[in-house]
Amino acid sequence: MSDVTSEPGPAIDRPAADRPIPKPGILEIHAYVPGRAKAEGVAEPVKLSANENALGSSPLAQEAFAEAARKLHVYPDPKAGLIRAAIAERFKLEPERLIFGCGSDEVFQLLNQTYLEPGDNMVQGEFGFAAFAIGARAAGGEVKYAKEPGYTIDVDEILKVVDDRTRIVFLANPGNPTGTWIPFSEVRRLHEGLPPSVVLVLDGAYGEFARDPSFSDGLELARHASNVVVTHTFSKLYGLAALRIGWGYAPTAIAEAVERIRLPFNTSIAAQAAAVAALDDKAFQDASIALVEQWRPWLIQQLGGLGLDVVTPSAANFLLVGFPTTPGKTAVEAEAFLASRGLLVRGLTNYGLPGHLRMTIGLEAHNRAVAEALVDFMKAGG
Ligand SMILES: Cc1ncc(COP(=O)(O)O)c(C=O)c1O
Repeated sequence: MSDVTSEPGPAIDRPAADRPIPKPGILEIHAYVPGRAKAEGVAEPVKLSANENALGSSPLAQEAFAEAARKLHVYPDPKAGLIRAAIAERFKLEPERLIFGCGSDEVFQLLNQTYLEPGDNMVQGEFGFAAFAIGARAAGGEVKYAKEPGYTIDVDEILKVVDDRTRIVFLANPGNPTGTWIPFSEVRRLHEGLPPSVVLVLDGAYGEFARDPSFSDGLELARHASNVVVTHTFSKLYGLAALRIGWGYAPTAIAEAVERIRLPFNTSIAAQAAAVAALDDKAFQDASIALVEQWRPWLIQQLGGLGLDVVTPSAANFLLVGFPTTPGKTAVEAEAFLASRGLLVRGLTNYGLPGHLRMTIGLEAHNRAVAEALVDFMKAGG
């Protein structure tokens, strides 16, 4: 007997066509817009548009990556055994409950595919991370947005939007592109307010930068709940965005369901090996957090002093900054002005925030250059 059952699905009424037609909804999806990486006329711009790690990556991870070059002809371990064991040990988690993905993005995609069908919906904050919604729509689900007053997740607003066709709620905490966060007591309240049939995904991509004692990535909730998945990435704190590896901690039933549709070799040998090394490099992690903690308040103060509306509190490695609507001073113009000085930040029109820019906290020289450029920008023009 084959591993794969191939019972025909229900007949779908689709008219005959003279060309391949994407399934309903696909052409209404807006493709993900990545942070810009090029500035015209500037050979090596400073990229503050994708919340990467300004310190680069751990030297130990780089060594592991180089070592992996000797194994390019070999398929990776489909179970990602070494990094699975390392994460299980570090965070005291059951290894069989871990899901690995090509970035945490793939873990979101797998959850959407596993739990959503046409007629179902996924709920997220109105400024929620774009990848959640793309995956939900691709799975045929509808996306419902909950208001975020003050650019912050509001549990009551989420609960208002949840209905009997809601299958997943995605919550990035801290949020992207807002940088704001909610305390663990609120995450618990959200969980208590959801029906047990709804998967609550707590995306902790920036969780390591959130140091307030009332913050939690939710692992302790996920440990005993039957419907909570916590995700993490190696792209931010660990500086491995290029390698594409992230993970989720799920109830056994969810992990087993997702495992059925996961592509067998979805994380590479290099990614698995570098992730193990990066997880071990506490000094690099501490330096990355210290850099953000040093420069985040400085940037908030400098940009606030220029009359810009910096959204606080940010607990991430970036800031969301509001610009005036006065011609000559807008976010769109500021983005172009910064790019002309080789400083790339993230425009947010696709997030419904055309008056804001998102800026990664960089090295000292980057942060000073951004602040100086914005002084000139605010002085000049209309
Ligand atoms: C909120 C949030 N979640 C998840 C991710 C995706 O991370 P990964 O690189 O692991 O796919 C990002 C990346 O920018 C993010 O901002």
